[in-house]
Amino acid sequence: MRTRILGLGTSIPEQILTNADLERIVDTSDEWIRSRTGIEERRRIEDGRDCSDLVAEACVNALADAAVKPEEIDALITATATADTLFPSTAAWAQPKIGLRRIPVFDISSACSGFLYANIVAEGLVATGSARRVLICGSEVLSRLTNWRDRGTCVLFGDGAGAAVIGRSENDDRGLLGSTWGADGSLAELLWLPAGGTRFPATHETVEHRKHTIHMCGNEVFKHAVKAMERAVGEVLDRTGVRGEDVDLFVPHQANVRIIKKTAERAGIPMEKVYLTIHKYGNTSAASIPMALKDAEESGRLREGNLVLCAAFGSGFTWAAALYRW
Ligand code: ACO
Repeated sequence: MRTRILGLGTSIPEQILTNADLERIVDTSDEWIRSRTGIEERRRIEDGRDCSDLVAEACVNALADAAVKPEEIDALITATATADTLFPSTAAWAQPKIGLRRIPVFDISSACSGFLYANIVAEGLVATGSARRVLICGSEVLSRLTNWRDRGTCVLFGDGAGAAVIGRSENDDRGLLGSTWGADGSLAELLWLPAGGTRFPATHETVEHRKHTIHMCGNEVFKHAVKAMERAVGEVLDRTGVRGEDVDLFVPHQANVRIIKKTAERAGIPMEKVYLTIHKYGNTSAASIPMALKDAEESGRLREGNLVLCAAFGSGFTWAAALYRW
């Protein structure tokens, strides 16, 4: 039994923050950001909207794309590092906005690997018969957890969401062919948000020291990211017996164009087969892969029958890769 993505949808905030805008906020330059990351601009959520609003919009669009009704969904999984609240889950806030039945809804917290983690969990639910169709959504509002005085992080992140309807594939040739996932929690402090949980609840001091924002050791993350992406891609290609050069389209997590280039090079995938959205959306963490898949479909780069490879890494440290026959 195979599962496949029956439909995709996104929610992309309208407000654009360019590198020139950031030059007015921190000591940085358009040239530095472009050359070190590949980012030219990113989106920022409107005031008054939350992560769950992006989830709802992306999910409604994915349902329409799949021609599936809300009442036909048996579970909702949200992948996010920027939840509306510590509890309940962002999925719980989104559920009534989408008009879903009283189905199980929950969040996955595995940062940028979250969409692929959610896809692997959804595949298990469908394979065991616990669900017929599962909505999965990567959604992030990173702008609200960014330290706008830290030039090492504030230039990187953007807001947005991407959702997919996962269901049984009508034939064995099409759908999720193989996947791999993993984590190494000993690297957790390389990229984290220290305060606001139960370890460091909010105090004047946590606020004063900006502990409620993203903390990252960029160059260490970079080194581990390249290794994790390379390993994950290698594993999924081995498992499925596919060679890098046979992949039609590589849609990686969009964190840094240099990480993507190194990963593609090591897997033997030419850059013409790599799909990039980082220039216009920055790093949208768990949302980046589904947003890029939808973008690739809309631009005609992703067609039925294509062999599509996705790979991600993120805070945790987590990683995952998946190979699809579209
Ligand atoms: N503008 C100008 N200069 C900057 C900026 C900036 N925005 N940011 C850092 N610099 C400076 C540093 O201060 C440093 O200056 P110094 O040499 O005088 O000390 C210099 O640039 C080099 O700094 P590095 O951190 O070594 O720069 P690097 O080449 O590693 O690039 C970057 C930094 C872009 C953050 C890179 O390390 C990276 O992309 N890392 C991976 C980050 C990532 O992918 N994170 C997301 C993970 S996904 C998730 O889970 C959310």
